[in-house]
Amino acid sequence: MSRADRPIGVFDSGMGGLTVIHALRQLVPQEELVYLGDTARLPYGSKSHHTIERYTLQMGELLQRHDPKLIVIACNTASAHGLPALQAVSPCPVIGVIEPGAEAAAAVPGPVGVIGTLATVGSRAYETAILRRDPSKIIHSAACPLLVPLAEEGWFDDPVTDTICRRYLDLLPPEVKTVVLGCTHYPTLLPSLERCRPGTLWIDSGRVTAKAVDRLLQGTLGYRTASARGELRVQLTDASSRLKEVGSRFLEEALGEVEVVDI
Ligand code: DGL
Repeated sequence: MSRADRPIGVFDSGMGGLTVIHALRQLVPQEELVYLGDTARLPYGSKSHHTIERYTLQMGELLQRHDPKLIVIACNTASAHGLPALQAVSPCPVIGVIEPGAEAAAAVPGPVGVIGTLATVGSRAYETAILRRDPSKIIHSAACPLLVPLAEEGWFDDPVTDTICRRYLDLLPPEVKTVVLGCTHYPTLLPSLERCRPGTLWIDSGRVTAKAVDRLLQGTLGYRTASARGELRVQLTDASSRLKEVGSRFLEEALGEVEVVDI
């Protein structure tokens, strides 16, 4: 099989990365996608650098079974802690969500807010990537650990979610008008986030990463030659009773067959 016809491997700590799959299916629908979610070990966001890096390397190795032309780390936490280690050993190119998110944030004038898991915010990966592009940029970050469980619970339109979003967003000074959604789950909470901070420009790191993938395919990697919609294969390291319900929420379409793989 030619390189262009090989699948794109996408992995996340769980089901949240299906928001990135959703963006890829809209932008490059002809591509074959293999999604690997580490549901057995979710969440990554509360773990240490060493553990997240180790998990990222293991997920990259599992994806190699599919001989991907590209690996996308859809998880912000894994991108923040494991990207360089995986890039160093992977036989195919690997991209994460931080650089595309930072590029979009750096392009907007004014101070920027970054929200994410404890591990993503603690790594300062977004700050580093934004400042590399614009050393004068003022950046305010806030860890929002309660937002992942709220999104998984599907509380998208709920006063409890509004209260918690407001509490976190109030950590960012009022002059911040651009906020990076530095976590796979946050795009699903946009209605609530918008209610708490109307008029904000929200940068969806997953969506801008899909655009970065498109640019790579346009270049040396190449688009899949068939024009029919590519297949989506979903593999998880654990299958919980609610996976179809939670997964469909992030994918924004019904989640089909799911395979369980051993780590
Ligand atoms: N996927 C993670 C991220 O984007 C959120 C869930 C977790 O903590 O594992 O940072």
